Amino acid sequence: MKAVVYHGPFDVSVETVEDPKIEAANDAIVRITSANICGSDLHPYEGRVEFEPGSVFGHENMGVVEEVGPGVNRVQVGDRVSVPFNLACGTCRNCTEGFTSACLRANPSGQPGAGYGYPMMGPYRGGQAEYLRVPWADFNLLELPKGGEHELDFTMLSDIFPTGFHGTELAQVSAGNTVAIWGAGPVGLMAAHSAAIRGASQVFVVDFEPDRLKLVERFGATPVDASNSDPVEAIIELTDGFGVDCGVEAVGYQAHDPAGEEHPAMVMDGLIAAVRATGRIGVVGVYEPQDPGAATDAAKEGRYAFDFGTAFTKGLSIGTGQCPVKKYNRQLRDLIIRDIATPGLIVSHELGLDEAPRAYDQFDKRVDGWTKVVLHPAG
Ligand SMILES: NC(=O)c1ccc[n+]([C@@H]2O[C@H](COP(=O)([O-])OP(=O)(O)OC[C@H]3O[C@@H](n4cnc5c(N)ncnc54)[C@H](O)[C@@H]3O)[C@@H](O)[C@H]2O)c1
Ligand SMILES: [Zn+2]
Ligand SMILES: [Zn+2]
Repeated sequence: MKAVVYHGPFDVSVETVEDPKIEAANDAIVRITSANICGSDLHPYEGRVEFEPGSVFGHENMGVVEEVGPGVNRVQVGDRVSVPFNLACGTCRNCTEGFTSACLRANPSGQPGAGYGYPMMGPYRGGQAEYLRVPWADFNLLELPKGGEHELDFTMLSDIFPTGFHGTELAQVSAGNTVAIWGAGPVGLMAAHSAAIRGASQVFVVDFEPDRLKLVERFGATPVDASNSDPVEAIIELTDGFGVDCGVEAVGYQAHDPAGEEHPAMVMDGLIAAVRATGRIGVVGVYEPQDPGAATDAAKEGRYAFDFGTAFTKGLSIGTGQCPVKKYNRQLRDLIIRDIATPGLIVSHELGLDEAPRAYDQFDKRVDGWTKVVLHPAG
């Protein structure tokens, strides 16, 4: 089959690799209909996280079940399914408590949490390919209505829609709350969509990319352009001097100023300043324990020097981590089916697999208009 293969920083190609097979009784093989490129893929793509050359990318996958192992009895051949980016066993202590993002059995390295086509997430191949092997298929796969409807909405269920929602869950957004989100990438936009669905009274999204700020309005939120003014001042002013109840970090450790210079703590500092005393912050933007390419020596070792003193003085609650997709994907699917959620609005490009190298290049360079790429391996 054809797949997107990583060779080294800024070097991916589409190649023929071995077809995946049923390796264990609980496996399924999914024929991929949509596989998205994610902001998280850019970390290994840029060489900011080590990734084994020869690995196949892709953790945002959906498709149709092609084959199942003898131990699979819920999922059936022909089912249309979304594949959560967390690959989880379903029976360990963390899985049974709903934390599939920290499965204790799926990652042979011993690190909690596993996934497809991603560094340190186990030996599993990604789904930017024609087919994908899904272990523990009955547990991991979410069934979708058959047919082709809502493809671009449903394909957001594998990662970024639940992840944006998780940001608002960690920040405990509820009816009437005010919310500030840093980052108008796909994850930040999904957090804005989620905050509105949860009944927020005001939602602000901070970024400096004009095309992304434009999308903010599509989700009913207020864009805050940080390119030549202080976003914290703007948010404080727009909330009558009070600050917001809830904040969501949707940028991550490569936070930078409008000129492109990285300041790994600047987004956390902004959130801590903009959220009112005793408010709550959900951090879904990724921070790494090691980042040899970091802008500061401390950040190279995963130490991020944000304003913890002010956070403590204000009594802020800060939640972090990977999204346990299964906690939310069924409910978010049903919001899509009922036309209450439309996450597919962020898609800027639908391309064949062959165009993946160009898509990585353009998306990584933040070329105007490249907000979210969906690859369709079958064309
Ligand atoms: N926790 C999880 O489970 C999970 C899942 C998916 C993605 N992520 C992470 O979420 C983050 C966002 O993902 P994405 O796909 O939206 O990425 P992205 O790179 O497309 O978007 C990030 C956005 O942040 C903006 N930005 C950079 N510095 C900024 C600053 N100082 N102030 C305001 N905006 C700034 C950029 O202009 C960009 O639009 C990444 O770190 C990604 O790895 C986490
Ligand atoms: Zn992703
Ligand atoms: Zn588990």
